[in-house]
Amino acid sequence: MLLRTEELEDRPAISKLVARAFADQAKGGEPGEVALLEQLYACDEYIQQFSVVALVEDQIVGHVIATRGWLDGDVPLLGLGPIAVDPEFQGKGIGGALLNEIRDRAIAAGERGIILLGHTTYYPRFGYVPAIPAGIIPSDVSWGDHFMALQLGDKELPQGKFIYAAPFGV
Ligand SMILES: CC(C)(COP(=O)(O)OP(=O)(O)OC[C@H]1O[C@@H](n2cnc3c(N)ncnc32)[C@H](O)[C@@H]1OP(=O)(O)O)[C@@H](O)C(=O)NCCC(=O)NCCS
Repeated sequence: MLLRTEELEDRPAISKLVARAFADQAKGGEPGEVALLEQLYACDEYIQQFSVVALVEDQIVGHVIATRGWLDGDVPLLGLGPIAVDPEFQGKGIGGALLNEIRDRAIAAGERGIILLGHTTYYPRFGYVPAIPAGIIPSDVSWGDHFMALQLGDKELPQGKFIYAAPFGV
C-alpha cells in the first residue's frame, strides 16, 4: 500500500470510494460526504498536504482529509473527516495507516491537535480522547464522547470552542 497527497486528478476516484464507503449509512441516494468533500476542496480551510489517499496496485482504496478549524476563532487546530476506506479493503489496517499518516504530517507541520467526530470504539486506539472533558467544546454538546481530540507532540491542547471548516456548518 502507498500513501500520498491527493492530486486534482484523484478526485473522481475519491468521490466513488467515499460514496461506496458511506453508502450503507445513507438513506438512499448519494451520501452527504461526497458533496461535503467537494466543498472542502474548494474552501479556504483546505490544506492539500492533509488530504491523503491510500493506493493498492495504483487503485485508490482509502482517503482521509483534515481541514483548518479554529478554537475561539483564532487558535488553529485541524478538523479530521471524512475518512473512508473502500468496503472491499476495510479491516486491513488502511484506515489506521491514514490516521497515522495525518498525525505524522500534522506534527511535522507544527500543528497542535486534531479534532474529529467519530466512533468511540475506533479512534481511541489511535490516541484520541473525548475532547469535551479536555476543555474543547463543540457547537453541539450532544456529540458527547464522539467528539474527540488528539494532542500532537509535546504541545498541550489549547481549550475553547471549536469550529470546523465552513462547509461543515458547525
Ligand atoms: C472507519 C473506516 C475508515 C476504518 O477503516 P479500516 O481500514 O477498515 O480500519 P482498520 O483496518 O485500520 O481498522 C479496523 C478496525 O476498525 C473497526 N471499525 C471499522 N469501522 C468501525 C466503526 N464504524 N465503528 C467502530 N469500529 C470500526 C473494525 O471493527 C476493526 O476493528 P478490529 O481491529 O478490532 O477488528 C472504514 O471502516 C470506513 O470507511 N467506514 C465507512 C465510512 C465511515 O464510517 N467513516 C468514518 C466516519 S467517522
